[in-house]
Amino acid sequence: MIPTPHIGVSEQGIIAETVLLPGDPLRAKFIAETFLENPVQFNTVRNMFGYTGTYKGKKISVMGTGMGMPSIGIYSYELIHFYGVKNLIRIGSAGSIQEDVKVRDIVIGMSASTNSNFARQYDLPGTYAPNASWKLLKKATDVAKEKGINVTVGNVLSSDVFYDDNPDAWKKWAKMGVLAIEMEAAALYMNANRAGANALCILTISDSLVTHELTSAEERQTTFTQMMEIALELAE
Ligand code: HPA
Repeated sequence: MIPTPHIGVSEQGIIAETVLLPGDPLRAKFIAETFLENPVQFNTVRNMFGYTGTYKGKKISVMGTGMGMPSIGIYSYELIHFYGVKNLIRIGSAGSIQEDVKVRDIVIGMSASTNSNFARQYDLPGTYAPNASWKLLKKATDVAKEKGINVTVGNVLSSDVFYDDNPDAWKKWAKMGVLAIEMEAAALYMNANRAGANALCILTISDSLVTHELTSAEERQTTFTQMMEIALELAE
């Protein structure tokens, strides 16, 4: 069933087996133009730009996902099931909910708690724990160590709400050791795990719910580059 309703690619092999997934489609364009060799655009449907190029001789794609679990749920499902994508690496931002996770830090989601109902579709007789691919997690932490980039690995919260009616809701997750809040990882992990694909979520901390600190555009660019240095090495 290609092209799919949301990705306008009608041939196999156009999208690489490894896809980097920023939320913002213009970020995907920037990554393709800045980091990839010979990038070719493969998607414009809904302006959710996607590109394939090479990095150090390895084929790699980058595509926007939009914000939130329904949106990344759609794109990751189509990439896995209709285009044979094997490695899905979200590169995004998150808000810290721990004192010792500072703005500009890089957090890798080993697991993703959630307040969403995404897992309901599986009708499980219990509570599912969405987790990253060990293979990608190990490789990402090895690359970070080699490059001397400090990363914090742990549980993140994938939230359905950015503007929570209860401004203190995050504190209960913080008590459980959750590191940061974002809005996509849990759905990505569930789709990948259900289908036997590999997923990882690498995040830069853009703000802190603990200290209310924000990052400047310039600071975001530096950490963003470090996150990209890790993510790009995950192409196989
Ligand atoms: N909440 C949810 N998603 C986010 C945040 C946040 O505070 N910061 C960056 N992405």
